[in-house]
Amino acid sequence: MIDKVIEIAKEAGRFLKENEGKISEIKEKGYFTNLVTNIDKGSETKIKNFVEKNFPGHGVLAEESGISSPSSEYRWIIDPLDGTTNFTHAFPVYCVSIAVEHKGEVVAGAVYDPNFDELFSAEKGGGAFLNGKRLVVTPADKLERSMLATGFPYDVKDDPFHCVEHFESFLVRAQAVRRLGSAALDICYVAAGRLDGFWEVNLHPWDTAAAVLITTEAGGKVTGFHGEKYSIYQKDIVLSNGKIHDEMLEVIRQNL
Ligand code: IPD
Ligand code: CA
Ligand code: CA
Repeated sequence: MIDKVIEIAKEAGRFLKENEGKISEIKEKGYFTNLVTNIDKGSETKIKNFVEKNFPGHGVLAEESGISSPSSEYRWIIDPLDGTTNFTHAFPVYCVSIAVEHKGEVVAGAVYDPNFDELFSAEKGGGAFLNGKRLVVTPADKLERSMLATGFPYDVKDDPFHCVEHFESFLVRAQAVRRLGSAALDICYVAAGRLDGFWEVNLHPWDTAAAVLITTEAGGKVTGFHGEKYSIYQKDIVLSNGKIHDEMLEVIRQNL
């Protein structure tokens, strides 16, 4: 199955790249900061058609069109374009994220970045890979020597989960904090050892499902803000190389 997930993630990613700068429709979804373009929709249709053709009857949870075939044991969790705001500015940080859940457990995932031609992938229990090369998280064991990333939800003005205060606290405790604009890539960068940790609020399963599997398969750790077992259906996430996890939770606890 992973080969098929990779095949369509790459195809959809190439479609995004080919269509950069060719957006004909941009709409706001509730907030002026939450955008969807005809290219998000085109990518999603491509992926859904592929699933229907190759895995008839499988369920789908896709960002722009929601749930279909909910009674299937399988669920494809699709973000057809993660980093839409970047995409609309031709800022080259965006990707396609596709995961497959089987009986409620994520078993395969791929995140494809068409700008760097980077394919992050994992199968449950089989390790994580970047363009076929095995991934391992960093050995950093102190927050003050760690580079982190985060993102902000579309309703940031309401400061959900005190996300602005968490940002301030990490800024003065970590070596550096980055904000790239694609949660799936942020998380995969922890798997790839380019970042040591990540946190965010109000994410959705399509943002995190594939990338979280990839990072845990690379040796990373993931929990909610209270240190509890993480579910892709919850809103708060802390993810790290494992060694700085407790320190990250301690910083978050200051503003809970
Ligand atoms: C968004 C990106 C961004 C994150 C937002 C997400 P989208 O996804 O992942 O980094 O901060 O919360 O919604 O809308 O571009 O698919
Ligand atoms: Ca997304
Ligand atoms: Ca999206």
